[in-house]
Formats: sequence, structure tokens, C-alpha cells
Amino acid sequence: TDITALKVNQDRLMETLHQTCSWGTGKRWGSGPNDTGMSRLALSDTDKQARDWFVETTSSLGCHVKVDAMGNIFAVRPGRREGLATFAGSHLDTQPSGGRYDGILGILAGVEMLKTLKDHQAETEFPVGVVNWTNEEGARFPISMCSSGVWAGDIPLETAYNLREVGGGTATMRSELERIGYLGSIPASHKSTPMAAHFELHIEQGPLLEAEKQKIGVVHGVQAYRWFMVDVSGRDAHTGSTPLGKRADAMLLAARLITHSHRLATKHSAVASTGILSLTPGSTNTIPGHVRFTLDVRAPADSTVEAIEADLKRDFAALAAGENIQGLLDGATPSLPLEVSWRTDSVSPATLFHPDCIAAVRASAEAVTGDKSLVRDMTSGAGHDTVYASRHCPASMIFVPSKNGVSHNPEEYTSPEDCALGAQVLMQSVLRFDSM
Ligand code: GLV
Ligand code: MN
Ligand code: MN
Ligand code: MN
Repeated sequence: TDITALKVNQDRLMETLHQTCSWGTGKRWGSGPNDTGMSRLALSDTDKQARDWFVETTSSLGCHVKVDAMGNIFAVRPGRREGLATFAGSHLDTQPSGGRYDGILGILAGVEMLKTLKDHQAETEFPVGVVNWTNEEGARFPISMCSSGVWAGDIPLETAYNLREVGGGTATMRSELERIGYLGSIPASHKSTPMAAHFELHIEQGPLLEAEKQKIGVVHGVQAYRWFMVDVSGRDAHTGSTPLGKRADAMLLAARLITHSHRLATKHSAVASTGILSLTPGSTNTIPGHVRFTLDVRAPADSTVEAIEADLKRDFAALAAGENIQGLLDGATPSLPLEVSWRTDSVSPATLFHPDCIAAVRASAEAVTGDKSLVRDMTSGAGHDTVYASRHCPASMIFVPSKNGVSHNPEEYTSPEDCALGAQVLMQSVLRFDSM
């Protein structure tokens, strides 16, 4: 096969994107009729629709399809010779208020590769495949890259199965896998479904490519991150009749802890963010006695994330005890002591991808764009399933520009030309690796 001669079909790719995004459109709160927003939460009915489409489509393209015990779907197209498949992989699930590109673009580009190979009756040396990883977002069941993590052996199966949906629902990952018919029979393990390599096309989700008018990011790795759940316990009391010195206001303390986490992370050139916050009892005239919030801390080096975690644990305890460290309690607010407890929900270490895969992506990107200045090296700020795939096979990623650098937002946008360019680089990277 002359790999440079094969071309993906941009119109077909974009038609498929908008067709598959009919599953989960505009379901978010407050959405209007023209909303481009997506809510295709992991293992929901709309995720099932997208999965069923993926299984049917790849089967009709001549793939053998296997589903593992985490609902990961592996579609494999035979090659001239038997052996491990080189995969294109990503995820079909979205954020509760996400866009049309995060995740599904990588899957559809893989499907477009299969269609292009079929159009040309092209044979690869070894099998090539497309994999859909379950619950990459960690939005519904709160561990990101959850099922590639189980496949890699880094997240215990039982931990994943027992995850309960965010927001107080009773469904677990296991019960939802069963309900939608994707509790597969083969073990979720790299030992059962080993891969020759894993490539992932994804939108950048940041501003760099757009700012430099560049087209393709050659991704060398992913920064480290940890997710925590922080509980702040004080005492419920009347808002009108409780003097300041007799309050243990969990919300006021939580506000200060969150501000402090942000300041401390910034000092380390890291980022800390709170995306979920709930308080009880939730009444205008009751001082909240309990607050729970998430903390997501990210930095290029594991040691930075560890240092921030240690500092925050120390400082949160001091602030809860009423010590006015760094003037953060601003002296004027006396309070009864409160308690802060932590739970670590997820740990994703800093990851470096494989030189052979990085080289395959760079060579493909330069060949496809025909202009080295349109290609840049980068590190991913967001987590991706390729992090876990890379523990057990050579792997790397391809980024395409995100308009205004925005993602996890209905405004997420990447032009059809850029989507197709990324798909072309993905296909060439897979074929290049296959013939390496
Ligand atoms: C995972 O996708 C993350 O970056 O949160
Ligand atoms: Mn994604
Ligand atoms: Mn995402
Ligand atoms: Mn992600």
C-alpha cells in the first residue's frame, strides 16, 4: 500500500460527526433549539446509541468486534499477517455540557480510516483497529480515563465497578454497563487485548495551535494530575441569631480553602480547580454545617503536584483550626474550629509517549501539511486514554486546533478542514507504524 496516496474523505467524516452527534444533542440544562452542546454521559442511553452505531459500522467494514468487562470496544480489521493490531482510540462519552469534538473526533477519524482502507481495498501488514474507551471523561463516574486505567491494571476493576454516579444517583458503573448491554465477557486487561501501538487524534482543548496559526500538534506527553474530594464539617446554625464567634461556617471556610488552593498552585506554575461543590442543609437562613468540594490539581511534574498536595493538607488543617496563616482568615472573623478531611479519588502521573510513535506522528504531520512550520511539539494539559495505553504499548497523540482554545463547553469548535487534516495524520501514523 502506498500510504501517501490514501486520502480520508472530509465530507463523509463531517457528515458522520453531525449524524452521530444527534445522540446526546441539546440535552443540557437551559439548552435551546440551535444548541451545539452535547450531553452524552458515559453508559447513558445516548452513549448506548453511539456505541451500537460504532459496533454496527465497524462490523460492516469487516472488523471483528470485542467488548471487554469495562465496556471498552475493540474493532479490529485483519491484516495480511496475524499479529497485534495498531489502534486508533479515543472515547464517545462527553461532559454534561460538552461539545461535538472532544473524544468522538478521535473515534470517527479511526472509522474514517477503516472506510478509506476499504474504499481502496488496501491491505495492511498487520491488523489495524479502533478502540472506544469507556468513561474517559470521569464526568458521570468520577475517575477520568477510568476504563483504559482498568485495562492497564492501574485501576482495580472493583473500584471502577463500584463508582457511583456524581450527583447522588444510585447507579454504579457496573449496573449501567449491565443495563445498556455492554458488560463484555472478556477481561478488561492489556493481557487479553494487547495492542501493537495506540494513536489518538484529539482537539487541543487549549489556545496554542490557534495562536500560532499552526495545524498539527505532535504530542510528547501529558502533565500530571490528581483529583481530591474535600469535606468541610462545621455546625448548622441560625443565620440571624448566631454571633460570629459562635459559628462554624463550612461554606465560608470552603471559600477560603478554594481561594488558597488557587493561589498556592499559581505560585508553583500549576493549576488547581474546583468543579463540584455541594453544601448542606441548603437553606437561606441556615449557616451550612457541611460542604464537600472537588479539587483538581495539575502540573507538568509529579513532584509539583505532590508538593502542592502536602502544602494544602497542612494549610487546610491550620485554617480549619482557626490559625490565621498568611493572613487568610483576615483576623476580623472569629469562628469555632471546623474539620477538614480529604480523599484521593484519582492519580494520573506525568506521562511521556514513545519516541517511535512521536516520530511517526511528526513524519506524517510534515508529509500531510507539506510545511514543517505548521507542526509543533506539545505537551497535553488534559488527560487522555493514551496515558494508560502508553503503559503497555508504544503510543502518542495528534492535536488539532480548538477555536478560542475552548472545550468542555458547547462552543467547542474545530473546522472541517482541520478535523480532516488530523484524521489524515492519524491514518498515516497508524499505517506508518504498521509498516515500521
Ligand atoms: C481527563 O480527560 C481530564 O483531563 O480531566
Ligand atoms: Mn477527550
Ligand atoms: Mn474531555
Ligand atoms: Mn480528556
